[in-house]
Amino acid sequence: MRKSLFAVMVLALVAAFSLPVIAADAPADGLKMEQTKMPVIFNHSAHADYKCVDCHHLVDGKESFAKCSTAGCHDNFDKKDKSVHSYYKIMHDRKAADVPTCISCHNEVAGKDKDKKKELTGCKKSKCHP
Ligand code: HEC
Ligand code: HEC
Repeated sequence: MRKSLFAVMVLALVAAFSLPVIAADAPADGLKMEQTKMPVIFNHSAHADYKCVDCHHLVDGKESFAKCSTAGCHDNFDKKDKSVHSYYKIMHDRKAADVPTCISCHNEVAGKDKDKKKELTGCKKSKCHP
């Protein structure tokens, strides 16, 4: 009796600790980001070298996987908006202060490689906006 209870407890502990790991290991591919005029398909697998928090920055000091466009966050879809609420800006700003934007990081990754620059920072015929 005691032995089986112990076994159940061990199993419960293993399950409790391994579930979040499994969830964190394989975030999805093919995520459609449709708030901008030219939607982008985002693949986590292409970004597996980075830490989750590199992009999913803390919110009020806590880990968060909320959508970027969550109300009160980056929910201004006007391309001309330059505030922290601008959805366009947090994707395209070339110089990112604390959290990298898609373009600020892609720009760094491409370096002086012209083809890579086109692929990763182009508005058209790029990997972001084919
Ligand atoms: C290079 C940037 C980047 C990295 C690194 C990253 N993510 Fe994401 N993640 C995104 C973007 C962009 C979205 C889409 C957000 C949106 O639609 O507003 C997203 C969405 C998600 C979602 C929501 C998925 C859904 O189906 O809607 C989860 C959960 C998530 N990421 C988990 C993770 C975890 C866990 C890690 C680390 C293992 C991670 N992400 C690493 C950029 C990143
Ligand atoms: C911290 C760095 C970093 C950030 C931030 C980042 N990326 Fe990337 N991204 C990369 C790297 C590295 C590659 C692979 C480049 C290569 O092909 O050599 C890549 C590749 C891609 C590709 C082409 C591969 C594929 O998935 O088909 C797309 C599309 C892409 N990123 C979209 C995005 C979007 C959208 C965002 C912002 C929401 C973003 N990335 C943010 C580093 C980053």
